[in-house]
Amino acid sequence: MISIESAAYAAYVVSALLFIAALAGLSRHESAKLGNTFGIAGMTVALAATVALAIDHEISGLGLGLLAVAMLIGASIGLQRARRVEMTGMPELIALLHSFVGLAAVLVGWNGYLHVEHLGGPATAELDTEGMLGIHSAEVFIGVFIGAVTFTGSVVAYLKLSGKVKSSPLSLPGKNLLNLTALTAFAALTVWFVSEPQLWMLVVVTVLALLLGWHLVASIGGGDMPVVVSMLNSYSGWAAAASGFLLANDLLIVTGALVGASGAYLSYIMCKAMNRSFISVIAGGFGLDAGPSDDTDYGDHRETNTDAVADLLSNAETVVITPGYGMAVAQAQYGVAELTRRLRETGVDVRFGIHPVAGRLPGHMNVLLAEAKVPYDIVLEMDEVNDDFADTTVVLVIGANDTVNPAAAEDPGSPIAGMPVLKVWEAANVVVFKRSMASGYAGVQNPLFFRDNTQMLFGDAKARIDEIVGALAVARV
Ligand code: TAP
Repeated sequence: MISIESAAYAAYVVSALLFIAALAGLSRHESAKLGNTFGIAGMTVALAATVALAIDHEISGLGLGLLAVAMLIGASIGLQRARRVEMTGMPELIALLHSFVGLAAVLVGWNGYLHVEHLGGPATAELDTEGMLGIHSAEVFIGVFIGAVTFTGSVVAYLKLSGKVKSSPLSLPGKNLLNLTALTAFAALTVWFVSEPQLWMLVVVTVLALLLGWHLVASIGGGDMPVVVSMLNSYSGWAAAASGFLLANDLLIVTGALVGASGAYLSYIMCKAMNRSFISVIAGGFGLDAGPSDDTDYGDHRETNTDAVADLLSNAETVVITPGYGMAVAQAQYGVAELTRRLRETGVDVRFGIHPVAGRLPGHMNVLLAEAKVPYDIVLEMDEVNDDFADTTVVLVIGANDTVNPAAAEDPGSPIAGMPVLKVWEAANVVVFKRSMASGYAGVQNPLFFRDNTQMLFGDAKARIDEIVGALAVARV
């Protein structure tokens, strides 16, 4: 007869494999839904096995009741939030969820310390005779540190992404020195704690890590936030793995390592795509010495209207559409898909150019366009389309701003200098859809709006696109 314990451990292996299959599935649009299903199945198996293990370990009735209540409350809040959240609100929700993982790691670490090192007793004596007490102390200390950095870092990321605090970077004097001092103090305290664990050291490292997490993310400007979110994703994974060591839970170690490694790799890919140094971003802000170039006078902008744009489009040979966050806000993707269909019917070559960080999360634009049934083969990555703008008749910039800002390529003093952008300004005509002359997420002025070949089409992107589709229909009758 297989014991419950063995069955639960076998179930853990199954859910670890399901999580790996989930990651593989999520890496491609076509298989993303299946990947998600694998993830849900893996988590269901993991939860069931954990509850079975708890029962097998003779958890008290009260303990089981608390577990059930916690799962019920968690599941219903999670379901509510998932139902209500808009695509545009995803990154801030993810940041908030990361903060929970960080906080959980801090609590698990503190519990581990109070249970073993602080109170002593049989558990301590056992670890001591096996020579494992030092390792336990290291797990506690490192777990609490990573968890606390993740916690406050994620809370600040949430506040910035949701617009509750300004996204501009905080620049304390000697900020790099502050971060370095905090890291050195952590290293020294870890060594001390492992040889002689004491409560005050855990208090100090918790406060230090909370402040460090807050400072690291507060120092990072809006344009670099995508990297920060994926970096915090990675941290939350390592925090979970640290908890796994403390709780002797292999699945938590494996899952934490999967999240940690994939988050780190995603951050690396994003840094490469945005021409950022990973180290400078995580060390608290890139290009902060460059002052904002907002007060530069770029001259006047030109306004256009929907009839003129419809006319321009029907006479165009090639059109490239570069969507951004504004398309998501306006939910203009269905109108954009309809416009694309109509133009293609009349022989206009229409393609899409997608910047790797357009919108508010990786793949944001691709998901919206897929939702509106825009064919995959005309949706191109930035590198696939960037050399074609010079031969393009019309570019429609729909609610994008930072991702099409020529200052990134041309102004070394710009806060987003060096970030690769879609070179839309090389096209014969550029039409920018937005509601005002306001800056984008990075808070940087965009000289594109003042170029001779650029025209501004003000208003809500969905309304304007629908009007253009209407004007094209009238022109065809
Ligand atoms: P943004 O630079 O954020 O610009 C979006 C523009 O859309 C704004 O200038 C806004 O101008 C316009 N807009 C908003 N609502 C609109 C509506 N209803 N109709 C028409 N226009 C509307 O967008 P982007 O070019 O996509 O760049 C993304 C930015 O977000 C980058 O700085 C990136 O680093 C950052 N970010 C990205 C991610 C990821 S992973 N993708 C995550 C976090 C942050 P008005 O207000 O004048 O209308």
